[in-house]
Amino acid sequence: MIGLKSMKQFLLLFFLPLCLMGQNNGAIWPDTDGVHINAHGGGILRYGKRYYWYGEHKSDNTSAALVGITCYSSTDLRHWHNEGVALSVSDSVGSDIERGCTMERPKVIYNPRTKEFVLWFHLELKGQGYGAARSAVAVSKSPAGPFRYLRSGRINPGRWPENIDTAAVALLRPENYKEWWTPQWRKAIATGLFVGRDRAGGQMARDMTLYVDKDGKAYHLYSSEDNLTLQLAELTPDYTAHTGRYWRIAPGGQNEAPTLFFSHGRYWLIASGCTGWTPNAARLFSAPTITGPWTYHGNPCRGEGAEKTFGTQGTFILQTSKHHFLFMADEWRPHHPIDARYLWLPIRFDKKTKLPYLEYQTHKAGL
Ligand code: DGJ
Repeated sequence: MIGLKSMKQFLLLFFLPLCLMGQNNGAIWPDTDGVHINAHGGGILRYGKRYYWYGEHKSDNTSAALVGITCYSSTDLRHWHNEGVALSVSDSVGSDIERGCTMERPKVIYNPRTKEFVLWFHLELKGQGYGAARSAVAVSKSPAGPFRYLRSGRINPGRWPENIDTAAVALLRPENYKEWWTPQWRKAIATGLFVGRDRAGGQMARDMTLYVDKDGKAYHLYSSEDNLTLQLAELTPDYTAHTGRYWRIAPGGQNEAPTLFFSHGRYWLIASGCTGWTPNAARLFSAPTITGPWTYHGNPCRGEGAEKTFGTQGTFILQTSKHHFLFMADEWRPHHPIDARYLWLPIRFDKKTKLPYLEYQTHKAGL
């Protein structure tokens, strides 16, 4: 039997240091310098023995990019060393990435052919709100950067998705759908009203993630069509451009914050709804191949807080071993953006339904 005194000692010895190290979901997560990690809407790349966490640098009173995209590294997913700014904002007036622009949801993948690290992120031009809806790309020879900015733009101009009925889109008369959210408008959106509207200039892209498939092909998954439809676009072999092939997912479903993984023979996609910085219920989809068809399975979260994804919004799914996956999410603080918190949960599979699910735990998931 453990006595009360030794129990107290045990708690002090083991749990207090853990709390101080900030290993709890929603708590301050200090880096190895003791400063709360500033890498929001991020993703993690494993390269060699180290994990590299890239994210948005946020400031005290704005989510606009005043610094750039940050990078932290770790060997154990617990102790994070600040590697500094991986891609800095620019001080040239008129630059795509001019200080004060919006850089969101950065993700990095490694290309073994070119031996380059490729960074993609959602870019909004300075002073233009969320109207530009561009994707931007940068490359680096080393994981922590500095990354060299290449370009930004909309996606696949002039191209139709692989899974759209172009004849049906051709029949849509945009002037008949000026009023949003009517049943007819929703039907037209699902058919591809906004794909057609944006085809010449390229598809919009906001919340995003990247995924490298088993065959080495990389994909860019993003909220498009005014955040109404997700699109999955194939990247070129060097991962720095789009090939022109892309697929729509859940047309008109209003999904953002997409995250993707493969397990138990299927591709799984966990997204959120579109309620700005306010949390909502997550949505789970699966498909036998990455290009679909995608089936909707409802909310993967369980227990108290499930209707609001435990107060967070997903950003990335990290595979930590053959059968282990970690769901990374952000607890936004729009009035004090730098203070936004993190939630990392293990992804579990239900033995009966065979579906993945998320359950809240105080302790941050790790290796
Ligand atoms: C929700 C998105 O998921 C975030 O990345 C950010 O774009 C906010 N909307 C802005 O309101």
